[in-house]
Amino acid sequence: MSTVTIRRPDDWHLHLRDGAMLETVLPETARHFARAIIMPNLVPPVVTLEDATAYHARIMAALPPGMVFEPLMTLYLTEGTDPADVARAAASGLVKAVKLYPAGATTNSHSGVRDLTKVIPVLEEMARIGLPLCTHGEVTDSHVDIFDREAVFIDTVLDPLRRRLPELRIVMEHITTEEGVAYAAEGSDNLGATITTHHLIINRNHILAGGIKPHYYCLPVAKREKHRLALRKAATSGSPRYFLGTDSAPHVDALKEHACGCAGCFTATNTLSLLAHVFDEEGALDRLEGFTSLHGPAFYRLPVNEGTIQLEKRAEPCIWPEKIHSEAGPVTVFQPGFPVHWHVVL
Ligand code: NCD
Ligand code: ZN
Repeated sequence: MSTVTIRRPDDWHLHLRDGAMLETVLPETARHFARAIIMPNLVPPVVTLEDATAYHARIMAALPPGMVFEPLMTLYLTEGTDPADVARAAASGLVKAVKLYPAGATTNSHSGVRDLTKVIPVLEEMARIGLPLCTHGEVTDSHVDIFDREAVFIDTVLDPLRRRLPELRIVMEHITTEEGVAYAAEGSDNLGATITTHHLIINRNHILAGGIKPHYYCLPVAKREKHRLALRKAATSGSPRYFLGTDSAPHVDALKEHACGCAGCFTATNTLSLLAHVFDEEGALDRLEGFTSLHGPAFYRLPVNEGTIQLEKRAEPCIWPEKIHSEAGPVTVFQPGFPVHWHVVL
């Protein structure tokens, strides 16, 4: 197969930031994707319907003329979140999910949840109205090894929560382990899992062997090779439990190439080509559309997109800019480290 046509894809986990960075990265996503679940971890975070409405307006204002894109907004869950505001946000149609960040788990998560019992009334309301909870599934206890934080979260937070509130619809965001893959597989229709592009391509050696590579550092951090292989198997399995959430997370180079470098890989620019490459390697090109364009809308109970996108395998490899340039500074585009021949031909 040397061409593939898929329904226009969606990105079920995306960081667009704000201001100059938003203006620079938004077209990189809108070029290929019809919709995206927009992460709320701005400074200050997007907590209320009012915050989300204002952020949505800023995104639409930053969209270049002629581009069509629908941001699907999320609220950042805090211990002060008002269940009634969440219900209003869902009823407005603007907000499609609430995001749980365990406090301290990742970039801009200090306003996140320390004590899950404090947010049970919000989660009960979400279960009642069917609004999904997107979870950053890592514990933050300093005595838990960073490579084990996802598996420990599943056992000590996610599973007890699902037993307590079986009606709550939950997305395990950016799973990185075979434990995450297995847990999602066993779940009910109330459970989905997103997988990033970069976690299908890199393992922890790519970050650490032969010199530290800050542009491969993200959270959850890439794990051992066996976990990458489990993610590949899940993404290409055709199971509706798994769908694309790129977690494309731009940071300026000055903050990545730093003594305390930020977490995040910027993959919006080349994600579709990289995914076609991965699915081709796995002999699963016929399942690419499910992963990028069908399983996500089914979970979120939204219609699939009408348009299509075509990818073509050519003799010459794709060439992407090494960096994109924003007024805030340069952002390095994720480079897979091997040639990719799948070009998006629109
Ligand atoms: C994200 C960011 O930079 O906002 N970083 C990352 O490594 N994925 C936050 C997140 O989703 O964890
Ligand atoms: Zn993210």
